[in-house]
Amino acid sequence: STSPVKVAVTGAAGQIGYSLLFRLASGSLLGPDTPIQLRLLEITPALKALEGVVMELDDCAFPTLDSVEIGDDPNHIFDGANLALLVGARPRTKGMERGDLLEANGAIFTAQGKALNEVAADDIRIGVTGNPANTNALIAMKNAPNIPAERFTALTRLDHNRAISQLAAKTGAKVADISKMTIWGNHSATQYPDIFHAEIAGRNAAEVVDDQAWIENDFIPTVAKRGAAIIEARGASSAASAASATIDAARDWLRGSAENDWVSMAVASDGSYGVPEGLISSFPVTTKNGDWEIVQGLEIDEFSRARIDASVAELAEERDAVTQLGLI
Ligand code: NAI
Repeated sequence: STSPVKVAVTGAAGQIGYSLLFRLASGSLLGPDTPIQLRLLEITPALKALEGVVMELDDCAFPTLDSVEIGDDPNHIFDGANLALLVGARPRTKGMERGDLLEANGAIFTAQGKALNEVAADDIRIGVTGNPANTNALIAMKNAPNIPAERFTALTRLDHNRAISQLAAKTGAKVADISKMTIWGNHSATQYPDIFHAEIAGRNAAEVVDDQAWIENDFIPTVAKRGAAIIEARGASSAASAASATIDAARDWLRGSAENDWVSMAVASDGSYGVPEGLISSFPVTTKNGDWEIVQGLEIDEFSRARIDASVAELAEERDAVTQLGLI
């Protein structure tokens, strides 16, 4: 077995945490031979509930779980972390304006960015799941000047997985036969799930589907609004699937994406595909050993261009709003 990896998780007593921690501890991230040390951050009032979750982790007797530490101080919990999964965020409550939401989350992600900058391990990788994920990642990144910008990513893997699942259902293909799915832009209702470069058993997915009306009126809105549909059905937001996607994203980032395929991940733009430099926007990326690279050279037609631009415009607005609030 190899030396232990320190994985920090924020919002650990929340819904996603309740699924995520057990998957991490059981070896879903790094396999059975890499011991995991969990470092769990919560706000003070949630620490008691988190103690209960830790009792359950103990009761699973996971051989891969080396240790668990909990606390409410990011400077302590992030100490020496190799991977930080930033799940905890302030949910939008009734009467809360968008500006209030950005401000409340801004406070969380400035503090956590600063703490990561101070105490995380040199090889730290940071994945942001908590919403608004792209802009929270941007805030953390800007508050951690000593951590390379490419170490910050935001989660659009759930959208990516949802898009694969919808395409499989439509065509009768197996999910394993679908490759090169892309989510562009923001993890929000403006996101653009793109099947024009996707493949089904090597054939172009849009050609297999051969139904532009389905793409526009069914596929895109179903993927973009899947979160709301789950709240409607379950009475609670997606948690197990969000945890699963958080693991998929981190695993592929650290261990590499599959040959002849790519994944969707929101990363700091280098200007590729006309996305303004520095915005944390979702792209098709290949990953290897903790590094990512934006897939280059995809042809973007007018239909796709308009949708990418709309989502990127929303990201620019969010960035302007947090700039005005003095958060970045
Ligand atoms: P939840 O409300 O059940 O749990 C959030 C937890 O974060 C709570 O236990 C809360 O105490 C904690 N928290 C709040 N502020 C914190 C801080 N400063 N430090 C540490 N912990 C803090 O929410 P749930 O369902 O677990 O979702 C978490 C986040 O993930 C939400 O923002 C949600 O919108 C987002 N999400 C993102 C998805 C994506 O695809 N990117 C998909 C689904 C959810």
